[in-house]
Amino acid sequence: MEFSFDKYFVRQMEIKDLKNIVSNAKNPEIANNNTVVKKYNTLSKAKKYIQKMQEKEENKEGYELVIEGTGSAFGGVLSLHHIDYTKGTGYIGYWLTRDNWGKGIISRAIIHLLPFAFNYLGLKKLYAKTLVTNLRSQKVLERVGFKAVGKGGKSPEEYYFYELNR
Ligand SMILES: CC(C)(COP(=O)(O)OP(=O)(O)OC[C@H]1O[C@@H](n2cnc3c(N)ncnc32)[C@H](O)[C@@H]1OP(=O)(O)O)[C@@H](O)C(=O)NCCC(=O)NCCS
Repeated sequence: MEFSFDKYFVRQMEIKDLKNIVSNAKNPEIANNNTVVKKYNTLSKAKKYIQKMQEKEENKEGYELVIEGTGSAFGGVLSLHHIDYTKGTGYIGYWLTRDNWGKGIISRAIIHLLPFAFNYLGLKKLYAKTLVTNLRSQKVLERVGFKAVGKGGKSPEEYYFYELNR
């Protein structure tokens, strides 16, 4: 799965992304806000993660996509995961390298992913969650049309849960 928007190219994550995944997983500004990437803070953990996600993409079970800027510069990750074709649902997650915040990249990448999720894969509903403290991510979700539907997690104030219907 790959697509382009403006000067950005979005493609499947590959082994060549290992070092970028690990260095960003160690950055607290990213890791403290994204519960997925922080697990991949060593080369061996990140390698297993990339290989697992490549298998999932082959089976249309999940998509872990790298956003590249000019000169193939690694810019971040957008994922569509936990796809359930019976229920017609999937979850999105994302993070950008720190130098790429504030440029509208992730909002535009999500908007380009939506036709793939809804029209090509045939999903009916997408879910997302953000820490209640993660105002940037809440703005992103609201900008692309997600609605907050509740709060919860380990504490009642941990996450906002968001949904977007086709
Ligand atoms: C969450 C995260 C991806 C949001 O990144 P971001 O750059 O703020 O989000 P966007 O790409 O939508 O950029 C929006 C900003 O770019 C600006 N912008 C510039 N050009 C734009 C364009 N063409 N379209 C939309 N916005 C644009 C907007 O004004 C907006 O700024 P504002 O938030 O001050 O209003 C980023 O903060 C991040 O990686 N955080 C750490 C990991 C994380 O939190 N992941 C999500 C877990 S739920």
